[in-house]
Amino acid sequence: MKIKIEQLLEEARQFNAATIDELERFRIKMLGKKGELNDLFEAFKTVANEEKREVGQKLNVLKNAVQEKIDALRESLDTPVNTASTADITRPANDFDLGSRHPIAITRKEILDIFSRIGYAVAEGPEIEDDWHNFTALNFPPEHPARDMQDTFFIDKNNVNDIALRTHTSSVQVRMMETQKPPIRAVFPGRVYRNEAISARAHCFFHQVEGLYIDKNVSFVDLKETLLYFAKEMFGAETKIRLRPSFFPFTEPSAEMDISCNLCGGKGCSFCKHTGWVEIMGCGMVDPNVLENCGIDSTVYSGFAFGMGVERITNLKYTIKDLRLFSENDLRFLEQFKSANIG
Ligand code: PHE
Repeated sequence: MKIKIEQLLEEARQFNAATIDELERFRIKMLGKKGELNDLFEAFKTVANEEKREVGQKLNVLKNAVQEKIDALRESLDTPVNTASTADITRPANDFDLGSRHPIAITRKEILDIFSRIGYAVAEGPEIEDDWHNFTALNFPPEHPARDMQDTFFIDKNNVNDIALRTHTSSVQVRMMETQKPPIRAVFPGRVYRNEAISARAHCFFHQVEGLYIDKNVSFVDLKETLLYFAKEMFGAETKIRLRPSFFPFTEPSAEMDISCNLCGGKGCSFCKHTGWVEIMGCGMVDPNVLENCGIDSTVYSGFAFGMGVERITNLKYTIKDLRLFSENDLRFLEQFKSANIG
């Protein structure tokens, strides 16, 4: 019996409770009607008289120890843990990461904003196009190399009206000319696809913003002034432009537009291959055949069109040399555009 008392005393000393329930189970085990102490007091009756004094004392020690333990634990568990008093509610909240806009989205928005300030609407169209909207209406002759399998991702080649991923957003210009009466003044942003080997300088998809202005008496002067305005807004007031003769099936005359290199200010650097100029877009007066194909009277109306690659403009603005960075989603690249995170 003395050993049992010692054991229980040790157990009571060691005991700890994390919850009120745990403490209550301990109390019932020790002090309950069928608990250890009652059993001991019952057994005490049979203890020999000469031992009663010693065993009785030990039993009392145990009983007090158990009671004290229970009281102490109850007090500590009853005291609510006051979290409010330990947390500093005046401390500013932790920042949480909202991410940032993709550089292509930043540039696209900037281009659209510049044109919307001079009254251009924004229109979008399907990425899967038919031959008519992507090629034929735009005056591409049947044997034109751009229709070749090497440039175009065909989805259905039926030789009547092939279905393909659009190779430029000029297809959206056709859709607008077919459905709206001039004056037309709109820009057309979107993703386009070309079957190119992926490298630092070419990708199988990229983004364009094309533009179209059709009205009575629109001339090449309007084209030039509009694009000069764009170049200055986009790259700074000191920017110069230069138009070089070029060819597109859907414009006549056609030109490529260069801007003075915004990295060296036109002095010549490795970016502009020491010419002082960098090409940023194609443009020209809408070919009368295109107007007629879309149901617009080319004897009454004329217009100009232009088209630029958003990646190219972004490369120039942020000095990015590898196109693949735009679609790899590397956070080390994307996080650099946080400060340019406009609107
Ligand atoms: N559609 C041409 C391209 O994708 C760009 C362009 C648009 C050129 C309008 C002239 C006029 O390269």
